[in-house]
Amino acid sequence: MGPEVIRESEKVLRAVADMDPAVDLAFDHYDWGTENYLAKGEMMPEDALDILRGYDALLFGAVGSPAVKDHVTLRHLLLKIRFGFDLYVNLRPVKLLDGVETPLRNAKQADIDMVFVREGTEGEYAGVGDRIYTGTPREVALQTAVFSRIGTERVIRWAFDLAEREGRSVTSVSKGNALSYSAVLWDEIFEEIALEFPNVSTQRLLVDAAAMFMVMEPERFGVVVASNLFADILTDLGAAIMGGMGLAPSAGLNPEGTYPSMFEPIHGSAPEIAGKGEANPIGSIWSSAQMLDYLGHPEWGAEILRSINEVLRAGAVRTPDLGGVASTEEMGDAITTALALPKMAAQL
Ligand code: NAI
Ligand code: MG
Repeated sequence: MGPEVIRESEKVLRAVADMDPAVDLAFDHYDWGTENYLAKGEMMPEDALDILRGYDALLFGAVGSPAVKDHVTLRHLLLKIRFGFDLYVNLRPVKLLDGVETPLRNAKQADIDMVFVREGTEGEYAGVGDRIYTGTPREVALQTAVFSRIGTERVIRWAFDLAEREGRSVTSVSKGNALSYSAVLWDEIFEEIALEFPNVSTQRLLVDAAAMFMVMEPERFGVVVASNLFADILTDLGAAIMGGMGLAPSAGLNPEGTYPSMFEPIHGSAPEIAGKGEANPIGSIWSSAQMLDYLGHPEWGAEILRSINEVLRAGAVRTPDLGGVASTEEMGDAITTALALPKMAAQL
């Protein structure tokens, strides 16, 4: 249901561009995905990265279908872009929006307000491994996690910079007791970089304890930095405590701006609701707000989020995942209608 949620994001973005001449947006569309694969035998063309390289930013919906093996869809499309464009910061807010119920019985809205900085270019997703003796009883699979000093330093330093700017703490999530090479390097680098930021308070958690604390004491977390796999898993838990998969956004950033950054909801293609107009577009729309932040229009990023909150607070328009009956389109319409000219833009 990627196209369904992207359609609503584009609607919101076009409304912003209509209201503010300073926001100049033009869209091109690429239908790369599993249908392309089934028709042409490829997830995207050979020169896909060359085609995408010229854009300022990419909006991505979701990919995956029961008709194609998941490792094919992921590795030949999404990971190609994330790795090829060096999107090493994957920024994933976990925040309880207005009027949304969290399954955590005792948590207040202010308790669920953290942001994950997920490493996006290496770790457990590096694609290094092999299978040997395939199909025989002695079959062996090897999957090697890759942790480089450069890769670890840059993402941890980015997380500290963010925390310092926003006056928040940094939590490092790893598993140094069991992963005695990769996670120990990660932990050492975290301690080194912490010395550069004496004003930022820190905690280090093992990933299993981090999962427990996200449920029991979510208020412990501000900025959370973790490797590719750990943060992937924990941010689905994050989506659950913020009220559902359909709400959670992400920004895959190449902070140097050498390549375009990519903005996408964290959910997948939800095959059981795809094509029914039932998907919640908020994760995708919020990702578009992150895109406007990135493109130099933070007042509009904030306005889109305010508009999402307004619609959720009012409660009349809700998709089925939030207990309502509204369609994907109705949710997109409501958020578009609630948009107002933010102060900064109005003063221009
Ligand atoms: P999923 O995120 O698609 O769905 C998990 C659950 O959340 C389902 O119950 C689904 O109905 C619900 N959900 C997801 N998005 C929703 C939305 N916008 N509104 C309302 N409910 C929503 O994860 P799942 O089921 O593990 O994977 C389905 C397919 O998506 C697989 O082929 C997988 O490989 C692919 N996938 C793709 C990703 C991507 O494109 N970034 C990320 C994760 C999975
Ligand atoms: Mg995920």
